[in-house]
Amino acid sequence: MSNKTVLDQLLDDTEKELEAGVEKYSASIGQDEVGRALSVSQGIVWAEGLKRIRSEELVHFDNGVIGMVIDILPEKTGIVLLDQEKGIKAGAEIRRTGRILEIPVDESLVGRIVDPLGRPLDEKRPIVDGATMAVQREAPPIMVRGPVDRPLQTGIKVIDSLIPIGRGQRELILGDRQTGKTGVAVDTIINQADKDVLCLYCAIGQRSSSVAKVIAELEQHNAMSYTTVVVAGASDPPGIQFIAPYAATSMAEHFMSQGRDVLIVYDDLTRHALAYRQISLLLRRPPGREAFPGDIFYVHSRLLERSTRLRSEYGGGSLTSMPIIETEAQNISAYIPTNLISITDGQIYLSPDLFRKGVLPAVDVGKSVSRVGGKAQLPAYRKVAGDLRLSYSQFQELESFARFGTRLDERTKKILQHGQRVREILKQKQFAPLSAAEQIAVLFAVNTGMADLLPLGSIAVMEAKIVEAVRNIEGFAHTIAAAGKDDPVWHKLEQELEKIVSEIGVAGPEEE
Ligand SMILES: Nc1ncnc2c1ncn2[C@@H]1O[C@H](COP(=O)(O)OP(=O)(O)O)[C@@H](O)[C@H]1O
Ligand SMILES: [Mg+2]
Repeated sequence: MSNKTVLDQLLDDTEKELEAGVEKYSASIGQDEVGRALSVSQGIVWAEGLKRIRSEELVHFDNGVIGMVIDILPEKTGIVLLDQEKGIKAGAEIRRTGRILEIPVDESLVGRIVDPLGRPLDEKRPIVDGATMAVQREAPPIMVRGPVDRPLQTGIKVIDSLIPIGRGQRELILGDRQTGKTGVAVDTIINQADKDVLCLYCAIGQRSSSVAKVIAELEQHNAMSYTTVVVAGASDPPGIQFIAPYAATSMAEHFMSQGRDVLIVYDDLTRHALAYRQISLLLRRPPGREAFPGDIFYVHSRLLERSTRLRSEYGGGSLTSMPIIETEAQNISAYIPTNLISITDGQIYLSPDLFRKGVLPAVDVGKSVSRVGGKAQLPAYRKVAGDLRLSYSQFQELESFARFGTRLDERTKKILQHGQRVREILKQKQFAPLSAAEQIAVLFAVNTGMADLLPLGSIAVMEAKIVEAVRNIEGFAHTIAAAGKDDPVWHKLEQELEKIVSEIGVAGPEEE
């Protein structure tokens, strides 16, 4: 006998034995298996007697509360509650369900406010539970993924021109508290009104007043008609907060699988990491850096890997994600921020210093980047974006020197004057998204230098007039949006804009 046949024989035998074992095992799985709670504390239950329970299996308590198995040890089972404790005590009976956690995914989710299990929080009709989907799902494999080649317009000038986002991209928004992170995300959702993009806003660990504010803003700007809000509040048990982004992503994936473009906002993953840390510490898993468990990177990467653009053979849908992270004292090199910076395809950094100075949105262009969206950006932006970035960074550098009050030469003065106007034009109020054509026309006017002699206070007036012109001149918006870099239309646009600017009036050169 050759070695090969011996090996084959061995493998055959093993396979048979395994099959027999599996049959024996499946025959003996009892879904009526009942366990008992050993201890209950802060949303975590240790249980005994659930001998054949599987990881992530759902369990029921007598009072209807459900939980999910998260840890299996030889002598006991760790369960996270997916409801408030409602008086569960040690000794309570726990029943297996034989199922993993699934949530309803349905068209009827659009426009609704639900919890991570798909239960309505808006006191409207229940979600039709036709189709369901597992909460924890594998990310789409590489073969089905297509290139990111269409823009996801945020309507925010500084982002769409300098940090462009593409459909299927993961763009992190990070910054200290109260720097406008949620504001950027809400504006982006509001801007999807006519873009055929469904939106999900997943609130994790926030106070209910903050969530109510976002919902009110979305309603006021008619964005709820294409948006689903998934809420796991600060007072919800950590298990619910932990599964929230996965559940919201499953809802989004359902839409993506129908060929739709979807945008999902996770607000925020700092709270998500804290919920997971709490669960892990209660389960007595060994803490690592900053007391986070060792698998926190995997927890976030497996979530964000699910964002993608599908190839046209697979319906061509996309899932764009905007995870939000709250930094402390501008420390972007803390554990969770660095993890997320490395997982995502770029970040928008919001600076508290800019916020204080009233440069809003407080995007720090130097610390922000988009690694894939450039290819998806409308070609017309190239006419303005390159020069804008250059003149803005030159200006920022010079400005810090100019503060020392040294005498400046003419060239430096010009750069400062121009830079101030660039900064002014990149400012934008909340809830005032601009279309691509409007943005490009406005930025083009500043780029060409024609606004350099306007008083700073008139830049906003100029912007309003240009936007009005783009909106009112027939076919203008379409021509701009479709223009290539060397299109003759730029010349026409320049003449048009010069007329508008000259009507506003010119300031003395030493005005500020
Ligand atoms: N572009 C903006 N213009 C004016 N105010 C803004 C802008 N962006 C945010 N704000 C205001 O700043 C405050 C903090 O914004 P928010 O998005 O809630 O911050 P964060 O989510 O970072 O804590 C809010 O009151 C919001 O209205
Ligand atoms: Mg916020």
